Amino acid sequence: MQANIEMVKALLDPGRKVVVLTGAGVSAESGVPTFRGQDGLWKTHRAEDLARPDAFAARPELVWEFYNWRRTLVAGCEPGPAHLALAAMERLIPNFLLITQNVDGLHGQAGSRKLVEMHGSLWQVRCTVCTHAREDRSALPPLPECPVCGHLLRPGVVWFGEPLTPGVLRLAVAQLRDVDVFLSVGTSGLVQPAASFHQLARDHGAVTVEINAEPTPSTGLMDFALHGPAGVILPEMVPGTAS
Ligand code: APR
Repeated sequence: MQANIEMVKALLDPGRKVVVLTGAGVSAESGVPTFRGQDGLWKTHRAEDLARPDAFAARPELVWEFYNWRRTLVAGCEPGPAHLALAAMERLIPNFLLITQNVDGLHGQAGSRKLVEMHGSLWQVRCTVCTHAREDRSALPPLPECPVCGHLLRPGVVWFGEPLTPGVLRLAVAQLRDVDVFLSVGTSGLVQPAASFHQLARDHGAVTVEINAEPTPSTGLMDFALHGPAGVILPEMVPGTAS
């Protein structure tokens, strides 16, 4: 049902266990393009068509050009009010976990520490052949090579059809089975397994809340929905973060 901010704020008691799932919508106000809709276009390509292993295998230079463009763009972005409010929420609620699908690193930059980046990070690179992996914020060449074995490096993100990093899903599921309040913020809810998290939490007794710019396919399955910009709604919920 449609909720008001006070109703959701009342749920966020420091004694409760809270899990928040975020998607591209929380970074939209920082200037990071979302994945779907008009924003998800780069040149003539849909982001969804490039963030895939088969696209990288067929056209690694094009996929790296896309990621280097995103890295440069995100390097110029700052955490917004939604990121800052979630970092503050973590400080107020001892039993808190933030799970993000975003790869931009802005939650960490905002100060979130109880954070799982389930789709990896734009700032990680790893070898397509050996185990070399590193954090790297530098400008990369069009086809970066592994310093250990000389093969092609790839972005350290999880692409469509790829499994999550071992342990990440296990941790998320364990938390979702034992949570009082689940917030889904700024995600279209179209990509699994994150799209099922609200159902898992609800099946285990959590109150579920959607905060999104517009209704999504999950809206009707949530206990509460708040529609509007995350950067306005979240600061209203966390004492001391509204401007
Ligand atoms: N406040 C709240 N929500 C917003 C805002 C905002 N300011 N701006 C946009 N949104 C909402 C949109 O309405 C949309 O529902 O954010 C959602 C963004 O959806 P997607 O672009 O589909 O992004 P996301 O859900 O994070 O995608 C999930 O899919 O492409 C893969 O791996 C990629 O992590 C990504 C995953």
